[in-house]
Amino acid sequence: MSTLYRNANIYTPVDSGRPHGGTVQGDLQHYPQGSFLVKDGKIAAIGSDTDLLKSHSGDADVEIVDIKGQCVIPGFVDPHTHLCFAARREEEFELRLTGTPYLEILKQGGGILSSVRAVEAASEEELFEATRLRAETALKFGTTTLEIKSGYGLDTENELKMLRVIDRLSRNGKQDVVATFMGAHAIPPEYKNNPDAFIALLIDKMLPAVKEQGIAEHCDIFCEEGVFSIEQGRKLLTAASALGMKVKIHADEVNDLGGAGLAAELNACSADHLLAASDENIRAMVSAGVVANLLPATAYSLRKPYARARFMIDNDLPVALATDCNPGSSYTESMPFVIGLAVLNMHMSPAEALCGATLNAAYALGLADRVGSLDIGKQADFLVLDGKSPAILAYHAGVSPVVKVYKKGELVAGSDS
Ligand code: NIG
Ligand code: FE
Repeated sequence: MSTLYRNANIYTPVDSGRPHGGTVQGDLQHYPQGSFLVKDGKIAAIGSDTDLLKSHSGDADVEIVDIKGQCVIPGFVDPHTHLCFAARREEEFELRLTGTPYLEILKQGGGILSSVRAVEAASEEELFEATRLRAETALKFGTTTLEIKSGYGLDTENELKMLRVIDRLSRNGKQDVVATFMGAHAIPPEYKNNPDAFIALLIDKMLPAVKEQGIAEHCDIFCEEGVFSIEQGRKLLTAASALGMKVKIHADEVNDLGGAGLAAELNACSADHLLAASDENIRAMVSAGVVANLLPATAYSLRKPYARARFMIDNDLPVALATDCNPGSSYTESMPFVIGLAVLNMHMSPAEALCGATLNAAYALGLADRVGSLDIGKQADFLVLDGKSPAILAYHAGVSPVVKVYKKGELVAGSDS
């Protein structure tokens, strides 16, 4: 049995075998009156209505669904989230509004460390339920694939607990979920005066336990003033690489420590944030083939200057977009919101933003063979939008133009009518 979706206004990047930067980032395939055939949850054919109706409408086992001219795009891939957390931090948000800097709150034992205490106090069941609800919200906003980090455990027991929750969601939920180990998210208070000893613990005890558990595919570290240094990042990520994990970095989020340069040196999958990254290190990322994961909702929430997406794309660096959904610096599950910020505040075109939220994001996670575009052979993960083009995602602010969400050809959010 297969389904032919016809009369759709389709926009999709076409996978060229690598992430798209430079002028290619904004190249979308557009079928104003298009069709695509879904078989066994995958795209089996895509093209104009005329061509596909001619070749498939007579097949006995083909059901035809009329999309009624609505816009179809690939499902969003959110390549950077911390949405496994136990409690919100609303008081901290208000503190930031009255001038206390984000890193100052962390220094005083709040911020990430307050989320660590909440995760420790929560049962695994409670943590799962909180995480599941957020993933469900993300799904309604069109996210069909997402990455989730640990990093509110900071000891072996609680990091493994977070990773089990993420794994359970990946088995039982409606999305593809990729797990990242981020034990190096903050320095636990007991290591405050000796962060090198915590890095040694991460390398000698926690990484091997995470490897044995077999859930996390990636390893990440927060390189920042008052958190981890570039040298500590190099040590940890080199050890993670040696264990066969893919690596990435929270790089140059507040201060330019050179995280983007380290990502290039280590051939990381992505360098994330990059608000303060230097020209030189951005160019090094291009040569090394590292994707720039930009998180404009974080700049928005921290009231910081946005990452220089225009400079990056114009210098051939492929840019991906992510929510960074977390209880501190960026509390949103909405990729349409992120796309709106990318278009209006980072000056990406709607087409570039769509590529960033789909194909380039899939590359940042190493999943482009399966998701990120409506190419033949990939999963039939697609969205129906109430609008004439992907520009609606930025234009219709504060709401979601995503009316239907399909994962592997199944309707998973929105109504069938
Ligand atoms: O990407 N910077 C570090 N990690 C997150 C924030 C996590 C938190 O505040 O809970 C980020 O901004
Ligand atoms: Fe983050």
